[in-house]
Amino acid sequence: MDASDYKIEKMISAKSIAARVESLAIEISAYYGNTDKLIVVGLLRGSFVFIADLVRELNLPLEVDFLEVSSYGDNMESSREVRILKDLRGEIENRDVLIIEDIVDTGYTMHHVLTILGSRKPNSIQVCALLDKPTRREVEVSIRWIGFEIPDEFVVGYGIDYAQRNRNLSYIGKVSMI
Ligand code: IMP
Ligand code: MG
Repeated sequence: MDASDYKIEKMISAKSIAARVESLAIEISAYYGNTDKLIVVGLLRGSFVFIADLVRELNLPLEVDFLEVSSYGDNMESSREVRILKDLRGEIENRDVLIIEDIVDTGYTMHHVLTILGSRKPNSIQVCALLDKPTRREVEVSIRWIGFEIPDEFVVGYGIDYAQRNRNLSYIGKVSMI
């Protein structure tokens, strides 16, 4: 498919996202209220806008780190293979790890990330995903916090790309071919 032959229709407004981020942050702040070992791990690149907004609403002592794994190329199919492209800078042993993801789709990416990070002996590990496409799930993963459940549509914006474009949209839009 030619990456220029598509249109984007608004699905979730910037205002709705901001309101949801604020309520997620209240729940997350309460959950981690008793630890000073929190490390918030953003999965690059799709989570960069979400993590930036979320951590600024968290009233907690925390560190931020990033992990980049490969999953999708410049198309809409998951390769289901996950490799570390950029590892964490810091150790997570005995830390409380909160993974921030843009979208959980088939679940393969998150399943692999949980296996990799889980083997490093963190004290705890939880996931917060902005978007969840539950009807697409092929492997079960436990996601503690979900921003929005969405139908089986390809979306962009608020950090999320299609062929590396559209990450800079302030809202989440649905991609359709024209
Ligand atoms: P999974 O391994 O199938 O769960 O795929 C998760 C990854 O696929 C996410 O981190 C996204 O990068 C990407 N992805 C899944 N759905 C979409 C979408 O609708 N738009 C853009 N990227 C997506
Ligand atoms: Mg991703």
